[in-house]
Amino acid sequence: MRAIRFETTGGPEVLQLVELPAPRPGAGEILIRHQAVGLNFIDTYHRSGLYPVALPSGLGVEGAGVVEAVGEGVERFQPGDLAAYASGPLGAYAELHVVPAERAVRLPAGIDVSIAAAALLKGMTAEFLLRRCHPVAAGETILIHAAAGGVGQILVQWAKQLGAVVIATVGSEPKAERVRALGADHVILYRQEDVAAQVRRITGGAGVPVAYDSVGAATFDATLASLARRGLFVSYGNASGPPPPLEIGRLARAGSMFLTRPTLFDYVASVEELDESAAALFAIIASGGVRIEIGQTFPLAEARAAHEALEGRATTGASLLIP
Ligand SMILES: NC(=O)c1ccc[n+]([C@@H]2O[C@H](COP(=O)([O-])OP(=O)(O)OC[C@H]3O[C@@H](n4cnc5c(N)ncnc54)[C@H](OP(=O)(O)O)[C@@H]3O)[C@@H](O)[C@H]2O)c1
Repeated sequence: MRAIRFETTGGPEVLQLVELPAPRPGAGEILIRHQAVGLNFIDTYHRSGLYPVALPSGLGVEGAGVVEAVGEGVERFQPGDLAAYASGPLGAYAELHVVPAERAVRLPAGIDVSIAAAALLKGMTAEFLLRRCHPVAAGETILIHAAAGGVGQILVQWAKQLGAVVIATVGSEPKAERVRALGADHVILYRQEDVAAQVRRITGGAGVPVAYDSVGAATFDATLASLARRGLFVSYGNASGPPPPLEIGRLARAGSMFLTRPTLFDYVASVEELDESAAALFAIIASGGVRIEIGQTFPLAEARAAHEALEGRATTGASLLIP
């Protein structure tokens, strides 16, 4: 099979297309023939070394396709089922991949394989952020950074379904247009405007009870300054680099703030949580409440170009690799 591997960490140029023997599923595992592979920002952290992995390594944590074989003891799937997964193991950038059966979900009728690969990781992230990390209430005004991105677009739409007033930040005017079309109530161009000042203006000085920040270093101070007293800072990504170290007293001085640094893995840690999160996502997609934009597709062999586009802020919505 064809797969992308890397032997050293670095820029997109470390990604290499190689031929490997087809893997076989062990006990409790399934073999999936990918029809689509999800591209995620976390893939760039694994490739660059920001999140260390044992080398040499495969890349990618999300894919969807047909179950080709099941290992001993697997009852959750049968050959021929359509399945998707979103929490590894690393190696999704390949024609075939073996994953634990309890880390994969079956696709319900009506959910296209490409949509599943584009949405499972990003959409379950939106699910836990909006429903469990902080249960967003109708009427709350919330701040969502990088709102035109893969996770961002789902957050905006799902938050609107929950009745929130959404303040969205984006890096360009075309992305602003996109998130307005998705229902964002207020859009801030965070490369030009003072985010905290705009949030205070929009909220009549109060600030927001929760802010979802996936940008990290570049937005950390503005996010903290945008929160209402006793607000929750959800730092869930590092697209511009990791946030700076925090002196805890800053949380007190800012207004008795809460700070959490969640990862999807801890919110879908059990098979029950995984199934519940995926079911909520598939239901809101099926209802039309959340539409998944596949903004870009790349052949598997062009994984480097895909990483350049994602890190170069040149993508909107979700991106797929097609084996
Ligand atoms: N904690 C978790 O469990 C979890 C799970 C999934 C995703 N995430 C995080 O969520 C974020 C979004 O992931 P995604 O895959 O959907 O990616 P994405 O949002 O489609 O792409 C990242 C976006 O971040 C913005 N950005 C701001 N500063 C940037 C910079 N210096 N370099 C590159 N991009 C920058 C860009 O949008 P603009 O052009 O509008 O600025 C860019 O399009 C990532 O930070 C990811 O790590 C976390």
